[in-house]
Amino acid sequence: MKSDFILNESFGEFAGKKLTIMISEETIKARLKELGQQISKDYADKVPIIIGVLNGSFIFFADLFRELSIDAEVDFIKISSYHNKIESSGTVRLIKDISCDISGRDVLVIEDIIDTGLSMKFLKRRLEECNTTSVKFATLLTKDYTKPADKIDYIGFTIPDKFVVGYGLDINQKLRNLKSIYALNN
Ligand code: IMP
Ligand code: MG
Repeated sequence: MKSDFILNESFGEFAGKKLTIMISEETIKARLKELGQQISKDYADKVPIIIGVLNGSFIFFADLFRELSIDAEVDFIKISSYHNKIESSGTVRLIKDISCDISGRDVLVIEDIIDTGLSMKFLKRRLEECNTTSVKFATLLTKDYTKPADKIDYIGFTIPDKFVVGYGLDINQKLRNLKSIYALNN
């Protein structure tokens, strides 16, 4: 496991900041097993469409998907709310829409992290427009102050209010390949 490290000059304004390990690879793996079992149980008699929210969720998506013991279809949607910074822009834009027919289907959205809940609200509205049977959300992370308008159905970990990277989460589009989750310190 890569230990704590300092960001180099290629990170611009973040250069010199320290990243400290918050959730290890092993802890993530164990939690995903539990989530996979829970989701498989809840959708036992259904064939849900699992929709990954790009880019951040792709690693969580792939690992969680392999913990499912049920039949499920996949698709992806891409939105943007952060403009290469560490604060939400307050607006959500649809960059790539889903390409399958989700009417009459049970949809499970996979997010990397739910912070303000703005993206979740946007996605819920977009997907429910399609006459879905159900729309639920699974997220790897939420921050402890997060108060989305609707409840989050599956949560991997609730973390303190820190910017985090690794395991799919980025800073300036980098560090998604770290196997554990790290917190950016001031
Ligand atoms: P929300 O709309 O504020 O809930 O933000 C959700 C999106 O912002 C997530 O899907 C991430 O892409 C991004 N985001 C929020 N917090 C973090 C973070 O700590 N690290 C990396 N990305 C984050
Ligand atoms: Mg995201």
